[in-house]
Amino acid sequence: MDYSNYLKLPQLLSLQELESHKRTGQAAHNEMLFIIIHQSYELWFKQILHEVMAIKEKLGQPFVQQSSLSFIVSKLKRVNIILQQLVDQISIMETLSTVDFLEFRHHLVPASGFQSVQFRQLEAHLGLKFSQRMSLEKAFLKQRLDHQQYQQIEQLDQSASLLELVDTWLARFPLLEQKEYWQDYQAAVEQMLDLEAKIISNNTQQDDRQIQFEQKNLQMNRQHFQVLFDEKAYQDSENKISRKAMLSALFIHLNRDYPLLALPFQLLEGLVEIDEWLTLWRQRHALMVQRILGNKVGTGGSSGHHYLGETVKKNRIFADFFNLTSFLLPQNQLPKLNAELKELLAKEI
Ligand code: HEM
Repeated sequence: MDYSNYLKLPQLLSLQELESHKRTGQAAHNEMLFIIIHQSYELWFKQILHEVMAIKEKLGQPFVQQSSLSFIVSKLKRVNIILQQLVDQISIMETLSTVDFLEFRHHLVPASGFQSVQFRQLEAHLGLKFSQRMSLEKAFLKQRLDHQQYQQIEQLDQSASLLELVDTWLARFPLLEQKEYWQDYQAAVEQMLDLEAKIISNNTQQDDRQIQFEQKNLQMNRQHFQVLFDEKAYQDSENKISRKAMLSALFIHLNRDYPLLALPFQLLEGLVEIDEWLTLWRQRHALMVQRILGNKVGTGGSSGHHYLGETVKKNRIFADFFNLTSFLLPQNQLPKLNAELKELLAKEI
């Protein structure tokens, strides 16, 4: 065993076959970078999938022990650091000028990153459902992936995603029956909003129009909170996770300083970070495409950066946890935990 044969370097390093050279006998210098960067991304996608599947395995158990939580949090951290590198690597891609790219682009048509099966697997494992995807995107997936690859993604779409597993785990937290706690929380919210209303109407430095504008915003804020307390309103909202899961996640956020909630809190933060890095990746990739291609259509046949820009907003996966912070209250206004609740916090979940 040596370095080279352990890592299968002869095989790995012979996998960069320049299409320009094959077709014309003359290699386009920049095609090497294009191939290597895509291959590196695919290797990192493989590693991320490896971690995500292990996380799902642990989270899918009927009881998630503290040791599993610690495993999950550490692997989420790893995934996020890799994702951060993947965002940074776009700068390497941006050293490719339009002219450099046009030298060999026609050789790869109709191949496109759109057909990255691992990227689609990752989206599906995390929780991006077909029902959420744009209709154009769904149609393209069917056309551009081969039948077997498409079926694989379809199967994943129907199985429990990380988001769904987190939902189930959160929904069984033993805190939801604590009616008193939530009543106190609701009272604290109303007190906070009433105080804000008073500050707005007592502000003598604002004219009536400004005051009305602020009051309208505050009213929207009030309605936003109301969704939490009303099952029907919650179901009509844009949240993807169940109301039970949302309340548990909120409880974890509000009481994250209790040692037993530290890991669940870090888990939720890990998901927020994944959402942030993936969104940043989509944004940077779309901008890079605009920079290199302008308004040209993609090799995969989409409208290029216009299509990619849409996916930035529409394909968020853990946005619910991102928005959770709207429901936080100042520390000194938080409801007190009763003795029973404190004891419950010591239970395994
Ligand atoms: C010169 C560099 C690149 C250009 C010009 C480019 C262009 C595009 C375009 C135009 C699309 C939309 C689909 C289409 O019509 O083809 C796309 C999608 C995609 N590209 Fe790239 N790309 C580049 C580099 C990369 C790299 C390095 C990766 C890493 C794997 C990548 C991964 C993807 C993925 C995953 C999609 C699908 C995104 C989605 O549908 O949400 N691309 N790319």
